[in-house]
Amino acid sequence: MAYRFEADGWQHYVMSWHDPHRQLESPEKEIAIVDDALDALVSCGVLPHNRYDKAKFEAHRAAVCERFDIPWTAITPRMQRLLYGINAIAQPAVMAAVGVFCGNTFISNAGTAIGPGTCYEAERLVGLEIRTDEADRARRNVATLDHNGVDVQILGTDGGPWLQAYDGTIDLLYLDADGPRGTGKSIYLDLLLAGQHVLRPGSLVLAHNSVNSARQLADYLTYVRDPDRFTNSVNVVVDDQGLEVTLV
Ligand SMILES: C[S@@+](CC[C@H](N)C(=O)[O-])C[C@H]1O[C@@H](n2cnc3c(N)ncnc32)[C@H](O)[C@@H]1O
Repeated sequence: MAYRFEADGWQHYVMSWHDPHRQLESPEKEIAIVDDALDALVSCGVLPHNRYDKAKFEAHRAAVCERFDIPWTAITPRMQRLLYGINAIAQPAVMAAVGVFCGNTFISNAGTAIGPGTCYEAERLVGLEIRTDEADRARRNVATLDHNGVDVQILGTDGGPWLQAYDGTIDLLYLDADGPRGTGKSIYLDLLLAGQHVLRPGSLVLAHNSVNSARQLADYLTYVRDPDRFTNSVNVVVDDQGLEVTLV
C-alpha cells in the first residue's frame, strides 16, 4: 500500500540552501510535526514506535553546526530531525547512503551511531559519493566526530556498481544521488535495483526529494508503492522536498 503524510502548510516551509542551520520555526512546532510524521509511519507499520532521544538529537545537531563544512544543503531542520528519528528508531546495523555530497545527508542518518547523538551500536555505515572532491570533504566532516569503534567509510565512487557488488545485508538504504546530464533523480530506480538483493524483509529504503522531484521519480515511486514488491511505502511530506519511506 502507499500512503501520504502531509504537514499542514508544508508548501511554505522552505529553507535557504546556503543557510542550513537557521531555524525556521519554534522547536516545539518542529518536534510536533516530526512526531506526527513518525506517528504516521508507526500507524502504517513502517516503524515499531515513535520514540527517540531529543536531547541526543540536539547534541548531534549542534556538533554538525559547529564542525561540518556545508557549502549548501536542501536538508531542512525538519528533515534532519526526521532522518535522525527514523534511524534512531530503526537502529540499522548497516546503513548505506548514496549521493552524500558534502556529508550532511550521511550524518543526518549516521549521527544516531557516531558522534554526540549516538543512541545505538551500528556495525557499518557507508557513504557513497561519485565526486571525489565532495567525498573528500564528506570524509573530513565525518572525521570530526567520534566513531565509537563503528566501521565508517566515505567512498568516492559510483553507488550503482558498489551496490551491485555488495554481498552483505543493508538494513537502511538512503538514496539522494543526482544522475548525470540532466537525468537527475531518475537514477534512484537503477540504484534500488542494483541493491535490492542485499535488502532483507524489514529493511528500510529512504528516498529524498519525493515531492520536488516526483516527476523524475515517477518510475521509482510506482515501483516502491507496488504492494506485490514491498510491504509498505509512505510519502512523508514535512517540507517542500519530501521523503519516501519504504519498508521491504
Ligand atoms: C544533489 S546532491 C545531494 C544533496 C543533498 N540532498 C543535500 O541536500 O545535502 C546529489 C549528489 O549525488 C552525487 N551522485 C550522483 N550520482 C551518483 C552515483 N551514481 N553514486 C554516488 N553519488 C552520486 C552527486 O555528485 C551529488 O553530490
